[in-house]
Amino acid sequence: MLRKSRRTFLKNASLAGAALAAGRLPAGRAATATTATPPGAGARIYVDPAQKIAPLDRRVFGSFIEHLGRAVYGGVYEPGSPLSDARGFRRDVLEEIKKMRVPAIRYPGGNFVSGYNWLDGVGPREKRPEVLDRAWNTIEPNQFGTDEFMEWCRLVGTEPVMGLNLGTGSAEMAAALVEYCNQEKGTKWSELRRAHGIEKPHNVRYWCIGNEMDGPWQIGHMPAREYGLKARDAAQQMRMVDPTLRLIACGSSSPGMATYLEWDREILEECYDMVDGLSLHCYYRNDAEETGANGDTARFLSFNLEMEEQIREVAGVCDYVRARKRSRKRLWLSFDEWNVWYRQRGGDGGRQKAPRLLEEVYNLEDALLVGGFLNSLMRSADRVHIACLAQLVNVIAPLTTSKTGLLRQTTYYPYLWALEQARGEVLDLAVESPTYQVAGKGAVPYLDASCTLDRQGGTTSLFLLNRDLEKAHEVEIVWREAAPRAVKSARVLTGDDLKAVNTFEAPTRVAPRELAPPRPGSKMTIELPARSYAALEFIL
Ligand code: AHR
Repeated sequence: MLRKSRRTFLKNASLAGAALAAGRLPAGRAATATTATPPGAGARIYVDPAQKIAPLDRRVFGSFIEHLGRAVYGGVYEPGSPLSDARGFRRDVLEEIKKMRVPAIRYPGGNFVSGYNWLDGVGPREKRPEVLDRAWNTIEPNQFGTDEFMEWCRLVGTEPVMGLNLGTGSAEMAAALVEYCNQEKGTKWSELRRAHGIEKPHNVRYWCIGNEMDGPWQIGHMPAREYGLKARDAAQQMRMVDPTLRLIACGSSSPGMATYLEWDREILEECYDMVDGLSLHCYYRNDAEETGANGDTARFLSFNLEMEEQIREVAGVCDYVRARKRSRKRLWLSFDEWNVWYRQRGGDGGRQKAPRLLEEVYNLEDALLVGGFLNSLMRSADRVHIACLAQLVNVIAPLTTSKTGLLRQTTYYPYLWALEQARGEVLDLAVESPTYQVAGKGAVPYLDASCTLDRQGGTTSLFLLNRDLEKAHEVEIVWREAAPRAVKSARVLTGDDLKAVNTFEAPTRVAPRELAPPRPGSKMTIELPARSYAALEFIL
């Protein structure tokens, strides 16, 4: 769901919802403390290995592939293409995602899943029906389904996060899919899988119980209490099939929803004890609706702070229900759809197979904000265990395919750096930064930072966003314990034109460059260019 202005939400929120939102403080830890510096003073980061937020679950760098537009057909699967293997998997896409080491991928939707009959997508291909997908008004050929996805995941080296149909689908068929995937043999659905030639179970651990069920656009949308009861029933049946599952209930689809937080409270009151995590989604925009007539980049670049606020608010509701139920279990969050998305909207695929839908072209400012989101997700590591950049290929994605190749969009780079460098535990930095004013929001720091420490690997990484559109900032890094021995790498994404994009004709218009590395010592200084996102890795 696209985000509506937070101000709209606040106007609409009921008193009870507002009270819950106001109770946000005890929900989780505060984000990394940033102190405004006096005018003229520079930016500084204190790195203290004793100040830990939490171990980083790398699933927070997960992604998402939906049966939507060219994500599956023409993205990961294109039989007959010279770029595909004998199974029909696009080799270039597979190799790229494998190399990126994307840890978890959510599938098959999204809105699509709420009308999807998984039985249509398994078994002999020639017998699978072509169906009308009523979420995006396209033709779904069902040539790629659960088993193909599992095989693809194995080849890529990623973990599937499976979505379930709680719209038109029943709790019984949700449990049947778990049985199809996870039961070794000897039951109706496991034997069906074996009859399809797949002897070993897929052993899928993470399951999303429905998608955006709070949204009137969702197939099978229903009131919160009803969904809570249905999710509870599904979870109970699924756990009977496989008690090792990790189950994610479907939370609010955006802070812009009139039912934001109320939905989460009501559904959890029904199913809290049966689930492990709660989902949240948000997409961000820089256009008239959100940031003013022609957009407002300075404001736009502060939206990752709103992501963090959303995380604290939703965690607050989880903890409120937990306390009311006197439960010992603490839910974690799955931010399983997030991205910039506002230009390519709409879902009318004109009843074709794999039409071009939601093929957003990302520019430099989008990439900078994506870097900010990754910082926020790392800083929320104590509460967020899964998060999915929505999506991965062709549809609002960092990767775009053509018949002849693969393009890395601007947003690919901050995502890649997190995947490559962020490991171990997330540290709670103390950050001092000059600020700028954002209407309705107050002072926003120019510098946004996150840090991971990998004791085993002997490295530490810093991820830095400079929101200043005009000026470079000198940043002092103060190491509270033994300073790193050397700088392993220092990369930055920046440029003069915030609207610059990569295309097949000019694929590296927005590409990383080396950042002058700081000189080793207990205090280091780096110059962060204006409009930039940087990743530095140090050897301890
Ligand atoms: O990611 C695109 C769509 O956005 C998903 O299908 C839906 O869950 C969300 O509204």
